[in-house]
Amino acid sequence: MSGLWGGRFQNSADVTMFRLSKSTDLDWRLAPYDIAGSLAHLKALTKGGLIDSKISQSIESALKELRKEVFERKFLPEDSDEDVHSALERGLTNKLGEIGGLIRAGRSRNDQVATDLKLLMMDDFTVISELLLDLSGALLKKAETYVDLIAPGFTHLQHAQPVSFGHELAKHAVALQRDISRIRDWYERTNLSPLGSGALSGSSLPIDPELTARDLGFSGLVPNSIDAVSDRDFVAEGLFILALVGVHLSRVGEEWTIWATPEFGWAQLADEFSTGSSIMPQKKNPDIAELARGKSGPLIGNLTSILTTMKGLPFAYNRDLQEDKAVTFSSIDHLTLLLPALTGMVETTEFNRAKVAAAATSGFSLATEIADFLVKRNLAFPQAHQIAGKYVQICESKNIELHQLDESEMKKLHPLLDKTLLDLLDGKHAISARSTPNGAAPSSVKEQIKKLRGENEEAKAWISTSQKRFSGMMGQ
Ligand code: ARG
Repeated sequence: MSGLWGGRFQNSADVTMFRLSKSTDLDWRLAPYDIAGSLAHLKALTKGGLIDSKISQSIESALKELRKEVFERKFLPEDSDEDVHSALERGLTNKLGEIGGLIRAGRSRNDQVATDLKLLMMDDFTVISELLLDLSGALLKKAETYVDLIAPGFTHLQHAQPVSFGHELAKHAVALQRDISRIRDWYERTNLSPLGSGALSGSSLPIDPELTARDLGFSGLVPNSIDAVSDRDFVAEGLFILALVGVHLSRVGEEWTIWATPEFGWAQLADEFSTGSSIMPQKKNPDIAELARGKSGPLIGNLTSILTTMKGLPFAYNRDLQEDKAVTFSSIDHLTLLLPALTGMVETTEFNRAKVAAAATSGFSLATEIADFLVKRNLAFPQAHQIAGKYVQICESKNIELHQLDESEMKKLHPLLDKTLLDLLDGKHAISARSTPNGAAPSSVKEQIKKLRGENEEAKAWISTSQKRFSGMMGQ
């Protein structure tokens, strides 16, 4: 029988029921946040005159001692503990006897678990933001190294127009920057305290939940106590953000996997960040890139899972909500494993400049230059497009590149075409001309990288401020 509700029950829980109910395997991760919540709640109870200040001091020291023992793994959940909250209450009463139970007044595991999970997620999401910044930094550094290298840009996986290879690399950093900004928006929205909502209706005791909220670094209180204990939007939204990060990383992974094929031969992966085959001695496989692609599976699955748990759920707390932790921890763990390895892979990849450059202008990827040349001579774009298309067709049938067509043939196509076009049919020229602020010209890409670095610095400052809040909770 659980120590938490003995009074009303005559018989103990069946072993199968207890096994199903028990969640310490997972929710033990919440322990430091649960203790932080208890310390704040203790203050409110003391201020409300519900706990004598001397007794309050001894509860406070016992809680801090317990926190230390949790970190040192000297205090662990026992088989008979149902969840982290009851295990920690056992720890406290073991130390203090009956007065250890005083802090149960005015709160419930329902508001406790919502508070703990919010705190853990906000803490871990700052760590994920930091890992995203590392990856972004690695991509920007590579982008800078290869900013002057001309590469083919693709649409439909077909050569489209040449771009700076730095542009290709930096585009991923832009997506990651949006992810970090999404985390920051989510953090703001999540940062309201459920503590003090009790089981569902608040408390009749003279406690001030606003004070508890401030103490824990929340910006305020969830405005409705029923919503406070049953809302898991912060889980769904958080898991959406992580799923989208997963989708972004899967696109990095896909690109790297293709670039590392012998057919492309662009990317040379470092030994430290590749794997071999147990049967084929020649193999060097881009497993990190493939795992980056693969992890989007569970990350999207976890989001679908929490939304399914939440759908149609009656208010307020229902035990279904206990399923929130497995998916949350799973997504966090996948990314904290993947991101540093992916950053290492990016940092150590060398690109074969000759192969990338050779591919840059093949596949008639400079055909747009012909159309633009005619437009600059005042031809309407549809006609210019038509003529450039014909130009390509002729070259294709003659098996020559665009710059190899005779001037006489050009003139036949359109009198406005002449030899001066040849200067433009050059990859370097084509990309340096695309110097719009977000364009593919090396000069533009350098500016973009500078801007992104500035934004990353700003995000770094946000991360370190936010992390201070949580290091306090870890007793540091
Ligand atoms: N362990 C539960 C959870 O993770 C919290 C406890 C609430 N239980 C309850 N019977 N009201 O959601």
